[in-house]
Amino acid sequence: MAYTKTITTERLILRKPQPSDEADFFAMHADPEVMRYFSEPPWQDASIAARKLAEDIAAFESEEFFRFAVTLKATGEYMGSCSLFSEHRQNRRAEIGYALARPHWGKGYMQEALSALLEYAFIERDLNRLEADIDPLNTASASALERQGFSKEGFLPERWIVGGHVSDTALYGLLRRTWEARRKGAA
Ligand SMILES: CC(C)(COP(=O)(O)OP(=O)(O)OC[C@H]1O[C@@H](n2cnc3c(N)ncnc32)[C@H](O)[C@@H]1OP(=O)(O)O)[C@@H](O)C(=O)NCCC(=O)NCCS
Repeated sequence: MAYTKTITTERLILRKPQPSDEADFFAMHADPEVMRYFSEPPWQDASIAARKLAEDIAAFESEEFFRFAVTLKATGEYMGSCSLFSEHRQNRRAEIGYALARPHWGKGYMQEALSALLEYAFIERDLNRLEADIDPLNTASASALERQGFSKEGFLPERWIVGGHVSDTALYGLLRRTWEARRKGAA
C-alpha cells in the first residue's frame, strides 16, 4: 500500500508531495537566492518540477526517500520542503535536506519542521545517525542544523562543482543519543 505519512506541528503540516505543488515547487527552485548553495543550478525549465515531483511522490510512496512538503497549517500554502534521503537500513543512518521559499525565511518554520523530521527519523524510522552536507558559507543552514543539535564533524574541500563554480562541504552529524539527551534536558 502506498505510504502517506503526514506530520502535524503547531503551525505546519508536513505531507507527501502532490502534483498541485508544481508551481510553488518550481518557483522555489528557480530562485537564485534559494539555490545559492545547492548542488545544482537554479531551475530554468518548468518541466523539471513536474518530473522531480513525480519521482518524489513515487519515492515517498515506496519509502525510498521522503521529501516532505512543508505547508502552513492555517492555509495549506506550500512553503518548502524537508527531506530524509540516502537512508541506509543496516547502518541506521540517513541524510537530511531542506529549503524554504524566500518569503518564509526568518519565521522559525524550518526549525519547527526539522524538529518534527528528526523525531520521525529517530523514533519512527529507528535511525541512529543523521547527516547533512552543506556549503560552509551557508550560515542560515548551519544555524538551522546547530539549533537541532547537529555538530560540524568534517570539512571536505572542493567536493562540488556547480555551473563551473567549485565549493566545499561542511559535514554535520547528529547521533540519536545526543538528540535524546538534548530532549531530556529540554523537558
Ligand atoms: C536554510 C533555511 C531553510 C533556513 O531558514 P530560516 O527561516 O532561517 O530557518 P528557521 O526556520 O530555523 O528560522 C530561524 C530564524 O527565524 C527566526 N524566528 C522568527 N520567528 C520565530 C519563531 N516563532 N520560532 C523560531 N524562530 C523564529 C529566528 O530568530 C531565526 O532567525 P535568525 O537566523 O536571524 O536568528 C533557508 O535559509 C533556506 O531555505 N535557504 C535556501 C535553501 C538552502 O540553502 N537549504 C540548505 C541546503 S543544505
